[in-house]
Amino acid sequence: MEPKLAELLEAARAAAERSYSPYSGFRVGAALRLTNGEIVTGTNVENVSYGLTICAERTALVRAVTEFGPGIRVEAVAVANLNHAASPPCGACRQMLAEFIQPQALVVFHARDTIHVLAFSDLMPLAFEMKPR
Ligand code: THU
Repeated sequence: MEPKLAELLEAARAAAERSYSPYSGFRVGAALRLTNGEIVTGTNVENVSYGLTICAERTALVRAVTEFGPGIRVEAVAVANLNHAASPPCGACRQMLAEFIQPQALVVFHARDTIHVLAFSDLMPLAFEMKPR
């Protein structure tokens, strides 16, 4: 893997160490590399009212907009968990990433026995949008 992607995956893994996941025990971390060169991380934060839980990827995205403003563009994403499980971003996170990500951005995550590196447009074709036909 390209060193910059390996660095991003390591940042995601480190963020997973700070997971608040007392209900599922599933510790997730995400790291975004922005076109301005910054890396922004997030972890999953669960809640006793389970549906209020926020995933690691959306935590990272909300942090990135808060830190760097509404003009951010994401050029790479890494997701990791500490549970030795596959870590593809969930559907809700893909839709939310679609708002700020470049279609050719690489998304890296562990699957069962390999590491996937996919273009975002392959991971999330046909994201919902409101552009005129
Ligand atoms: N989770 C994430 O952080 N990212 C995903 O893409 C899928 C799921 C979290 C939410 C919850 O805290 C735990 O993993 C189990 O679903």
